[in-house]
Amino acid sequence: GAAELGPYRHYMQKEIFEQPVAIANTLEGVVGITPELFGDGAYRIFKEVDSVLILACGTSYYSGSTAKYWLESIAKIPTSVEIASEYRYRDSVPNPRTLVVTISQSGETADTLAALKHARSLGMKHTLTVCNVATSAMVRECELAYITRAGAEIGVASTKAFTTQLVGLFMLTLALAQTRGQLSEAQEAEHLKALRHLPVAVQAVLALEPQVIAWSEEFARKENALFLGRGLHYPIALEGALKLKEISYIHAEAYPAGELKHGPLALVTAEMPVVTVAPNDTLLEKLKSNMQEVRARGGQLYVFADGDTQIESEPGLHVIRMPEHYGSLSPILHTIPLQLLAYHTACARGTDVDKPRNLAKSVTVE
Ligand code: G6P
Repeated sequence: GAAELGPYRHYMQKEIFEQPVAIANTLEGVVGITPELFGDGAYRIFKEVDSVLILACGTSYYSGSTAKYWLESIAKIPTSVEIASEYRYRDSVPNPRTLVVTISQSGETADTLAALKHARSLGMKHTLTVCNVATSAMVRECELAYITRAGAEIGVASTKAFTTQLVGLFMLTLALAQTRGQLSEAQEAEHLKALRHLPVAVQAVLALEPQVIAWSEEFARKENALFLGRGLHYPIALEGALKLKEISYIHAEAYPAGELKHGPLALVTAEMPVVTVAPNDTLLEKLKSNMQEVRARGGQLYVFADGDTQIESEPGLHVIRMPEHYGSLSPILHTIPLQLLAYHTACARGTDVDKPRNLAKSVTVE
């Protein structure tokens, strides 16, 4: 009810602002990286596996897609990510030494549960879930689990569940890296420091809300939007586009920025806002030239840039500067303004933000 909402207009907004606490709770009790964070016997299982197969739906699929970048670059473990409803019905080549990782806020999504059972029926016995509900079917079915402590999520569009999944998946990456001899003590200490500082860093990003509201007024008048990201931030662009379409009903698509010239550039006109997730990483120079391609066609660019990038606002180029550059965990910070953009655009269009048409919080039937 209204009392529970406090100063917020919707559960979604409340849940966006709960993220610093949700992340802090998810990290509570973590003193160091150890496989046992995922359950008894995790060390033996992590030693045995030679690859990871992530299965999930919706927003959880995008946290899994982000984790693939971490798992391959930090833990050096081959990783594939599949949409549960696809995997369960296709012929695939099973590897019994794969760690099957399901990701689910509810732990009750029918397709993800069925995909897990399918993997097991193919001989993959090592299973782990990153899940927000400790009593769920998913947690019961899996050998190992990392419970995110996002708390109850009521808004149909997932927010705090997503960022806490990313935290859990980053911990999984570090634990696998450690088991595989890919993590020095100095690196572990550095990653832990960055994780512990996350709630404060997220709080600073939430303070960008007024700037995002100004953009959302422009977005509310559009019928299409394009989201671009590269590398680790490509799945974040996908999640940003999903949030916008789910609650504002604006058609939104995400592309890895390098693919722009292979199709979506044909759609760019002055009517097409192009949102760019632009952390200051090694791909920044390439991203800048992708942005030039958009501007040359009259497109309006909306860039979330890191503090130390040289991109400045000018006609056709709108920039919101993120408070700090955050290395491997940057996807978590870049998610926040995209959630706020979707939320405020939906509010400006007057949609039923917490209960968007045709969608359900948890899809327990096929
Ligand atoms: C539904 C929800 C999404 C969610 C997806 C997967 O479509 O509306 O927000 O991402 O299910 O749910 P899960 O509980 O498995 O993460």
